[in-house]
Amino acid sequence: MDKFVIKGGRRLTGEVTISGAKNAAVAILPAVILSDEPCIIENVPSISDVNICLRILKEMGVGVVPLGKDTYKIDPTSIRNFVVPYETARKMRASYYFLGALLGRFNKARVSMPGGCPLGARPIDQHLKAFAALGAEYNLSQGMIDLKAAKLRGNQIFFDVVTVGATMNAMLAAVKAEGLTVIENAAKEPHIVDLANFLNTMGANIMGAGTDVIKIRGVQKLHGAVYSVIPDQIEAGTFMAAVAATKGDVLIKNVIPKHLESITKKMEKIGVNIEQFDDSIRVWVDGPLVKANIKTAPHPGFPTDMQSQIATLLTLAEGTSIITENIWEQRFGYVDELRRMGADITVNGKVALIEGTGKLMGAPVKACDLRAGAALIIAGLAASGVTEIEDIFHIERGYDCMEGKLRQLGADIEKVSIPDTKSEKNSEHGKAAV
Ligand code: EPU
Repeated sequence: MDKFVIKGGRRLTGEVTISGAKNAAVAILPAVILSDEPCIIENVPSISDVNICLRILKEMGVGVVPLGKDTYKIDPTSIRNFVVPYETARKMRASYYFLGALLGRFNKARVSMPGGCPLGARPIDQHLKAFAALGAEYNLSQGMIDLKAAKLRGNQIFFDVVTVGATMNAMLAAVKAEGLTVIENAAKEPHIVDLANFLNTMGANIMGAGTDVIKIRGVQKLHGAVYSVIPDQIEAGTFMAAVAATKGDVLIKNVIPKHLESITKKMEKIGVNIEQFDDSIRVWVDGPLVKANIKTAPHPGFPTDMQSQIATLLTLAEGTSIITENIWEQRFGYVDELRRMGADITVNGKVALIEGTGKLMGAPVKACDLRAGAALIIAGLAASGVTEIEDIFHIERGYDCMEGKLRQLGADIEKVSIPDTKSEKNSEHGKAAV
């Protein structure tokens, strides 16, 4: 077990490079299964969710060869089976993308239900609805989801809620289905577009990704491709918040500024200066930070995955801010930890009221999920004194060398090993990922 030890109060300055997007990579890697030839995937982030994804592929007989730090050759021609067992599926929420990819390749899939999770109920009814519309039967038993189709046929799929996972899974399953699939009320996140671009590079025929209607004309075969994953918009947003919280001045490189629009707008309202370039942004603070109200929403709204980081920034701002979390039932788990650091936050259902105190104090705290962990890092960087963050395996699921990148910007942050007194149940291997 490791923890982060942060001595706060240092301004972040310099340059940082953002890695590939977690939520795109964990869909693109399984999508390679649909190809009849090897693919080369670049800009893959070094995070534990990706490692688990690669392990699942290897366990299926898929060839996985690293070609450098962030590039992999993935060869699906040797794939042997269509099962993702409990032991690996429970470690990563996004293991559900193997359902769509395996169904699309073999007309069948057997994948363990993704494990418990700390964000509240995370049903997969919309994923199953999409598979059924395409002609698959499903059966849930003993914690396994079995999908089987005599033949996949294109169809109309209307989602009852805007869902990233089910939109991606419907695309994966429909790409080789016979005829036309129309997905309505589709999610529009940048990673949806990235998956569609990757599939199209392999020869798929997908139109409209990034709007709420996606049309997919099934093709018989997909071929190999070389593809680079988009930069991680949430990692970029997290660094933006960290720079602002320390009143720093940093050039954040390898970003797509358009993907950051909702975050940029709110930060500017809070008093953060942002200058956009083609593929980088400069973030700096030279005045007071002020309150803001934020409601999370599907893209292009303010992302739920940035909610805890911006809330942390608002504890340092003047005035009372209101945050409304509209996507997940339980995404204020970090609030108790921030209170230990002196934050004044009251939560009532999906609304958090933040009285800006302008300062935080170091304390021992615990990450309860990935973005909660990121929020605590930001708090620790801005706080006076020492902050120790436990359960950092949550953070390592989604941030590529966070402490190294922060150290380069002048932060005093160390990863320290602590004796593992906890059971396997509470370790990295026992909890489901986000
Ligand atoms: N929902 C349903 N039924 C479904 C699927 C979703 O009711 O079948 C509901 C959910 O309960 C939720 C809403 O729809 O209230 C949105 O869920 P969505 O399916 O969009 O979330 P997801 O695909 O499970 C992905 C990201 C999350 C991110 C959400 C929202 C991955 C691996 N995860 O989850 O990322 O919060 O979209 O943008 O892509 C994170 O990176 O920290 C993270 C949690």
